[in-house]
Amino acid sequence: QELSQEISAALLSTPEEVEAFRLKYLSKKGIIPSLFDEFKTIGGAEKKTYGKPLNELKKLAEEKFQSAKSTLENKNLTTSSNCDFTRPAHLLSVGSRHPVSMVIEEMIEIFSRIGFTVLDGPEIEDDWHNFTALNFPPDHPARDMQDTFFISKNPDMALRTHTSNVQVRAMETMKPPIRVLAPGRVYRNEAISARSHCFFHQIEGLYIDKNVSFADLKQTLLYFTESFFGKSKIRMRPSYFPFTEPSAEVDVYWGLENEVDYRITKGTGWLEILGCGMVDPNVLQACGIDPNEYSGFAFGIGIERIAMNRYQIPDIRMLSENDVRFLRQF
Ligand code: PHE
Repeated sequence: QELSQEISAALLSTPEEVEAFRLKYLSKKGIIPSLFDEFKTIGGAEKKTYGKPLNELKKLAEEKFQSAKSTLENKNLTTSSNCDFTRPAHLLSVGSRHPVSMVIEEMIEIFSRIGFTVLDGPEIEDDWHNFTALNFPPDHPARDMQDTFFISKNPDMALRTHTSNVQVRAMETMKPPIRVLAPGRVYRNEAISARSHCFFHQIEGLYIDKNVSFADLKQTLLYFTESFFGKSKIRMRPSYFPFTEPSAEVDVYWGLENEVDYRITKGTGWLEILGCGMVDPNVLQACGIDPNEYSGFAFGIGIERIAMNRYQIPDIRMLSENDVRFLRQF
């Protein structure tokens, strides 16, 4: 009884007092545990007398200790850290989409409307898929160390120089009709400047079916530029790629007359956007498709230049520096 009065009366307002209380009553060598030790040694009849009050005493001390402890903790929270809990919370900053991603996503959306589906391929590629199956002669300059990052441990592997490797993978694994789109990053061993980088993005398009013609290619590209740039015209310049014949490079004339698309800022002009052509019969053959039965076209669109044009970005390096002051603007 005495002890229980003492415990009830104990003043526990500082951390020191709380700790002293714990030591005195509750710690291993404290009063209550030693009473329990003593309790073990007494006879059966006395156990009946002392058991209940002893347990009550223990409960009293523990509750007193716990409540003093949590009162102290709450006090710390509100006073020492000087928090104003009524203040509005900080806004969580929401990320933005990267201009390269926005352009890629829009292109995928445009081509998906005419039946193209997206295919992925490796960025570390073997010679077969990046060059040989694409009809690159063994001594073609694009295989040269100047343009290609080879993997030093394995001369057969390189960082892909274009997304055309996915063309090969598509034709090897799918049966015509094939309509695929392969967006992704490519690498070239080039000097970095405001206009070119050693890595950038392309979207590859491939269509293989019976009787696919160059007219289909041109109309598909016009559909694309009108969807993406608004009213536009395209110009096809004869070109050369080992994997297409005939081949062309395509420029788009953007910002036509007074019908400038709202997404494009001021100005007009020709912009080179892609390389394309009819898939070379040698490529079809190498990928297991009969060139006498099927034909097709392919194109590879450069993403960065288009993103730079659309968002008036003066330097290609801004697209990969991850400067939040730049990224936040999109
Ligand atoms: N792979 C070519 C390049 O990177 C582009 C291209 C793709 C050309 C498909 C024709 C057909 O320049």
